[in-house]
Amino acid sequence: PHVLLLGAPGAGKGTQSKRIAERFGVDHITTGDALRANKGMDISELGFEHDTPGGFMDAGELVPDEVVNEIVVTALADADGFVLDGYPRNIEQAEFLDERTDLDAVLLLSVPDDELVDRLTGRRVCPDCGANYHVEFDTPEEAGVCDECGAALVQREDDTEETVRERLRVFRENTEPVIEHYRGTDAFAEIDGEGTPDEVWDAVADAIESRA
Ligand code: AP5
Ligand code: ZN
Repeated sequence: PHVLLLGAPGAGKGTQSKRIAERFGVDHITTGDALRANKGMDISELGFEHDTPGGFMDAGELVPDEVVNEIVVTALADADGFVLDGYPRNIEQAEFLDERTDLDAVLLLSVPDDELVDRLTGRRVCPDCGANYHVEFDTPEEAGVCDECGAALVQREDDTEETVRERLRVFRENTEPVIEHYRGTDAFAEIDGEGTPDEVWDAVADAIESRA
């Protein structure tokens, strides 16, 4: 299937996308991870405020469409089925995507703002294998150590409270119109993202199965 996962920063897109990719055998296309792998890339010739993707990311702002659309086009060309996580984030990206592929399921994970701030400021990530944890909600067996590969966990640079608030503001301003763009289509479903990861997963899997 072709799946789009929408939701605010911290709504659980990454957590659920990994399960979708595994269960349905599709590619996990995540612009956030792709950009983090290219944080220092020189994009000064584009003439924007920052000279690297990382400059935008650490400020909680969107990386320019020119950079992000290119990542998505390349990933889509290689994918049979996919789950897109973190894209589209503004109307221009949504229109760009609509011209290039059809979508079976567009799922919105809804979580209240207070909970989003708690989830993001408590998130810890593995710098080596990319696994995600939370200091309260999803703790590794040994504090601060990745269960998968044994590396020391770190906090993402954009997970400070100040940057999280800015990311939420950018989401309201730029990405909420994307939700309205897809709401009302047959592919669309809004899912309560406040339960445990397993509870949310049951609703996500059902919504995809009934649409694929
Ligand atoms: P990106 O990496 O996409 O970040 P995001 O959208 O802010 O999303 P997150 O990864 O923070 O959250 P998530 O929804 O995946 O939640 P997670 O599952 O990890 O983007 C980062 C930056 O890159 C952007 O700010 C921008 O600069 C740039 N960028 C990316 N895409 C772009 C685009 N298309 N255009 C322009 N710029 C772009 O969960 C969060 C935490 O909560 C974890 O600790 C997890 O363990 C915990 N958790 C998850 N589910 C639950 C649950 N059900 N209950 C309790 N805790 C839970
Ligand atoms: Zn790891």
